[in-house]
Amino acid sequence: MRLTKHPILEFKRGREVTIYFNQKPIKAYEGETVASALYANGITTFSRSFRFHRPRGFFCAIGKCSSCMMEVDGVPNIRVCKVYVRDGMMIRTQNSFPNADKDIFGMIDSIIDRFYPHGSHYKKFNRPKALRDFVTKQIRNFAGIGNPPKAVFDEKGRYEEIHTDIAIIGGGPAGMSAAIFSARFGAKVTLMDENPFLGGQLVKQTHRFFGSGKHRAGTRGIKIAELLRKEVEELDIDVRYETKVFGIYNGIIGAVERDKKLLKIVPKKIVVATGAYERTLIFENNDLPGVYGAGGVQTLMNVFGVKPGNRGLIVGSGNVGLILSYQLMQAGVEVSAVVEAMPRIGGYFVHAAKIRRLGVPIYVSHTIKRAIGKKKVEGAEIVRLENWREVEGSEKRIDCDFICVATGLSPTHELLYQAGCQMKFVPELGGLVPVRNRFGETTVSGLYVAGDVAGIEEATSAMMEGRIAGLDCAIKLGYGGDEAVKLRNEIVRDLKEFREGPFGERILAGLKKVEVEA
Ligand code: FES
Repeated sequence: MRLTKHPILEFKRGREVTIYFNQKPIKAYEGETVASALYANGITTFSRSFRFHRPRGFFCAIGKCSSCMMEVDGVPNIRVCKVYVRDGMMIRTQNSFPNADKDIFGMIDSIIDRFYPHGSHYKKFNRPKALRDFVTKQIRNFAGIGNPPKAVFDEKGRYEEIHTDIAIIGGGPAGMSAAIFSARFGAKVTLMDENPFLGGQLVKQTHRFFGSGKHRAGTRGIKIAELLRKEVEELDIDVRYETKVFGIYNGIIGAVERDKKLLKIVPKKIVVATGAYERTLIFENNDLPGVYGAGGVQTLMNVFGVKPGNRGLIVGSGNVGLILSYQLMQAGVEVSAVVEAMPRIGGYFVHAAKIRRLGVPIYVSHTIKRAIGKKKVEGAEIVRLENWREVEGSEKRIDCDFICVATGLSPTHELLYQAGCQMKFVPELGGLVPVRNRFGETTVSGLYVAGDVAGIEEATSAMMEGRIAGLDCAIKLGYGGDEAVKLRNEIVRDLKEFREGPFGERILAGLKKVEVEA
């Protein structure tokens, strides 16, 4: 499943290491996640679900859905799409016996379920008392997710306090831009990201950007990520990799670095640029291994050089679905079809024309009805829609071994909620977003947002929002003087112009609902 040749990307794999999957040695490379190493070795079922023992694989590949939880070095419930391999690492499937592929619990479950449907034990075993105690004990043995840890961290008490001007959470296009533009004017910046590299979603975007020259039109996303990273390196920015922020408490950030060291960050300003996560879709069997989010497939294929399968069905014809279809074909993966529930294609005509020329049918007014397969995707059934209702008898079987859901993103808003920002549900911006002014400052003084977490848009606008937020933080802290103010105002005007195109109409309507006076 590993890609060796690609027309655009070059995969520089790290040192070869051995990891153990249920005691069996498998080959992996430093710098790749456990999830991608397992996929590269043909392992697609990672665990079983807690309740019905249904097979589980990965979905989002960016640590947001918890579908990929496994036991790693004795610690249960680890999201293996965010854990990087180390030589000798022990990986185990959980909630299954003897393993997730051939799970006896799943079989027992389906038999027991006929007599005692799920949940009936709450009433069934109350009497007699002796039986209740016995049964409760047995049921408790099966409850919970994973087993208690067999290992504990040996580096107890490691803790660091960091004082900085601006703390930026998220190292994608918005976060990096905020860091660069504030550091350029002398602000002391700490930039945190969950990954061991910066770039966010840009690292998987192999297509060239549209727009004008000043918006880096004609440049590929991966190249833009490289340019931004270089700028971050050249400035005196404190970058914290593999750092997960778990909360903001009265302006103080709590984070964990490399799963071991606790960080207390005391900033004067905060920029949250945590991006977005993928939405899923409701259809029969939508939890089978082989049903992936579009970004998950891009991560696996474009970042780690591993094929998601041999033949895919794409659900959703927005730009992400269309671009992904083309990227799959570039990597030598067939695309059976693209289905779109709307009566017209959602993305740019140019992307649709490209994949049609390559022979991929696009079914508009169609949706996926079910994924076919028991342990993994072995096909799909699609159906025609009329007035948003399925047309009986119009079902069609699609030959595929994976299904990619490209139906949109929602802002990763949890930290903002937790920090106390006033939030609003704005469908035009993708879901729950914070109320803020035109510089990105939320209702919590000194806490800014930029990028997809503020509303789902293109990477170009994310970068502009990042620059504005970074500059405004720097200005408020006394850096940059008139020059910084002039630059910030120019970018605000530029962003407004950029949104005045036909695709910006929706965004502008959404912004009207959340923007308040600065
Ligand atoms: S959290 Fe790992 S696949 Fe979503």
